[in-house]
Amino acid sequence: MKSLNLLILTLFLSAFSLSNSQELKSPNGEITMMFSLEENGTPTYELTYKNQSVIKPSHLGLELKDDEKSLLDDFVIIDTKNSTFNDTWTPVWGEEKEIRNHYNELAISLKQNETDRVVIIHFRLFNEGLGFRYEFPSQQNLVYFTIKEERSQFAMTDDHTALWIPGDYDSQEYDYTESKLSEIRAKFDAALTDNASQTQYSKTGVQTALMMKTSNGLYINLHEAALIDYSCMNLNLDDKNMVFESHLTPDVNGDKGYMQAPCKSPWRTIMVSDDARDILASRMTLNLNEPCAIEDTSWIKPVKYIGVWWEMITGKSSWSYTNDLPAIQLGVTDYSKLKPNSTHAANNTKVKRYIDFASEHGFDGVLVEGWNEGWEDWFGKTKDYVFDFVTPYPDFDVEGIHKYAKSKGVKMIMHHETSGSTRNYERHLDKAYKFMKDNGYDAVKSGYVGDILPRGEHHYSQWIVNHYQYAIEKAAEYEVMVNAHEAVRPTGVCRTYPNLIGNESARGTEFQAFGGSKPNHVTVLPFTRLIGGPMDYTPGIFEMDISKLNPNNDSHVNSTLANQLALYVTMYSPLQMAADLPEHYEQFMDAFQFIKDVAIDWDKSIYLEAEPGDYITIARKEKGSNNWFVGNVNGNEARTSNIKLDFLEKGKKYMAIIYADAKDAHYKTNPQAYTIKTKKVTSKSKLAQLSVPGGGYAISIKELK
Ligand code: NOJ
Ligand code: CA
Repeated sequence: MKSLNLLILTLFLSAFSLSNSQELKSPNGEITMMFSLEENGTPTYELTYKNQSVIKPSHLGLELKDDEKSLLDDFVIIDTKNSTFNDTWTPVWGEEKEIRNHYNELAISLKQNETDRVVIIHFRLFNEGLGFRYEFPSQQNLVYFTIKEERSQFAMTDDHTALWIPGDYDSQEYDYTESKLSEIRAKFDAALTDNASQTQYSKTGVQTALMMKTSNGLYINLHEAALIDYSCMNLNLDDKNMVFESHLTPDVNGDKGYMQAPCKSPWRTIMVSDDARDILASRMTLNLNEPCAIEDTSWIKPVKYIGVWWEMITGKSSWSYTNDLPAIQLGVTDYSKLKPNSTHAANNTKVKRYIDFASEHGFDGVLVEGWNEGWEDWFGKTKDYVFDFVTPYPDFDVEGIHKYAKSKGVKMIMHHETSGSTRNYERHLDKAYKFMKDNGYDAVKSGYVGDILPRGEHHYSQWIVNHYQYAIEKAAEYEVMVNAHEAVRPTGVCRTYPNLIGNESARGTEFQAFGGSKPNHVTVLPFTRLIGGPMDYTPGIFEMDISKLNPNNDSHVNSTLANQLALYVTMYSPLQMAADLPEHYEQFMDAFQFIKDVAIDWDKSIYLEAEPGDYITIARKEKGSNNWFVGNVNGNEARTSNIKLDFLEKGKKYMAIIYADAKDAHYKTNPQAYTIKTKKVTSKSKLAQLSVPGGGYAISIKELK
C-alpha cells in the first residue's frame, strides 16, 4: 500500500514537474529562444535566427553584495507562463503614425533551493529580436538587496565585426571604431579621445547599443530598454571565448544597484536580421517601455529650432559675460559692476536678430546659451553651486526677449547647464521650471558637463539615472519638454515620457568644431545611439572651415553640405536644429530651403538602403500630408545609391527637388559643392544618385495638384 502511494505520488509529481528547458518562438517563427537550467541550476538561454545560432548558451543571473547568496545558480523552475501580445499604439511623435507591438512572451519563475528566493525571467520574442529582464516579486526572503554585478551573458558565435565605443561610466562622445571583436583590446586605447572622461574598467569594455555583423551577413545589435531605477549597462568582452557580459556602472561605493522588491531590471535586447534595414525599422526598444504616462500630451510638439550656440562652440563667441574671472573668484557677485567682454553672444541685440531670422524662415524656437550668471567659473572645479537657472546676465532681458519672441510667433528655448551638479539642479528645479513657464519657455536643453556632484558618482550610475528621470517627470508636471545632453543614453523611455524630446548622449555635431568626427559617423549613429531614442545631433552646418569663424580654431566639418541636409531625414528626431549661423544660411539660401521645408514628424518611414558604417537611405512621409522627404548619408567611399520611388501613391504626380553632392564634391576638399535639380516623379520613378565620400543627398517630394 505504502509503495503504491509512493508510486502515485511520483507519477503525480512527474506529470506536473516543469521541464528544465523551454522554447519560445517569434511570431513569424524565424527566431527561437531556448531556455534551460544547467545541472547546478544556472539559468541559461540561447538564440537562433533562421536556424543559425546567434547567441550560444549564455548564463543569466546577478551577483549580490557581501555575504548574500548570489542569484546565479541553485534554481528550479516553479512556474512558466506563455502569452502573446499583438497591438498597435499611437506615439505622440515618431517615425510612424502607428506602432505595432507584437511578441510572444515566456515568463519563467525560478526558485533558489537554498534561499527560497524567487526571480522571474521574462523573455519577449519579437520578429526582430529578443528582450529579457529580471523581475523580483514581493517576497519574504528577498526585500532589500544590493547588486554587486549583473551577470547576463551574450555568447557570440564567432569573431564578429563590431562598431564600438569604449566602455566609460561618464561619456559616450566617441567616434566609433570598426574592428573584429578580437581586435578591441589592441585598439582600445586609441579609441579613447581627449574629450571623454576615460573612466576605463577594462580594455575590452564597450558601450551599447553595440552593432555587429557576422561573416555570413547577420546583423546583431545589443542594447537595453526601459532603464529606470537601475544603472546603465556596459558590456565586457571575454575575448578568448567571445562572450560579452553585462557590466553595470558603479556608484561611489562601487555598488551597482540598490534594490527593493518588488522591482525589475531593464530589458536586455538582442536584435538580429540578415537585412540591416530591419534594425533601423525595429520599434522593439520603444515597445519594451511602458505606455505613455502623461494623460494630456497636447502640449508636446516637435520643434525645429535655431540657436545662439554654434558661435560659442566654435570659439567665435563666449558663454560668459565678462573676462573678469579674478573678481568673481574673489566674491564679486554683482555682474553690473563688471566690465562686459565683447564676445558675449547672448545679448539682447543678437538674440533679437536670431528671433527675426527664426520668424522669417518658419522656425518654431530659438535656443540661447550663456544667458545666465555663472559661466565665468562653471567648469572643471567640481563646484557644487554654480548656476541658479533664474538669474540672467545684465545684457539679457528675459521679459523683453519673451515679449519680442511672442510678437514674432517664436518660442524661446531655455538652457540649463548643470555643470554636472545634479544636486544643485534638483535644489533649483521647481523654481527653474516655473521661471521658464512664467517667461514663455516650453522646452529646455539641459546639460551635464564635468564630473558629477555628488562627488564620486558617475553619469550612468543608478542614482544619477534616477536624477535624469526625476527631471523628466518633474518637467512633465510643468508641461516642459526636455532635451538632455550628457545624460545617460536613451533606452526608449520617451514612449512613457514623450516630453523627453531629445538627448545628446553621443558624439554630436559639436565635435566637428573640436577637431572633427569621422566622415562615416552618421552612417553608424542610427544603428547605435538612435536605437534608444532621438538625438539632438544639431545638423545643418554649411561652413565647414571653422577657421572662418574663429582664426584660432582649425577644425574642419567632415561632411558635405548635401550630407548635412540629409541628416534631417536620416537622424530621426522630433527636435531638429539648424545649427549654423544665420549669415552662413544667407549665403546658400537655395540649399537652406530644404531645412525650411523638411518635416519633423512622420506618418511613415521606409528604410531603402542601409549598411552600418557605409550608407543609409530613408524615405519618410510627413505627418498629415502627402509630402515625402528622402535622405541619404554616405561613408568613406563614393557610391551610387539606387532607389525606387515606389513608396509614392500610385497614379499621383509629384515634383522632386534633389539636393545632391556635385561630382567633384568631397567632405575634406570640396564640401560645399552641391547641385539642386527639379524633376517630375511618380511611383514608377527610379533614381541613381552619386554620393561622394562623407556626402549624401536630400530630396523633397511634393504632390502636384
Ligand atoms: C555641451 C553640450 O553638448 C553643448 O551643446 C553645450 O553648448 C555645452 N555643453 C554647454 O552647456
Ligand atoms: Ca556634449
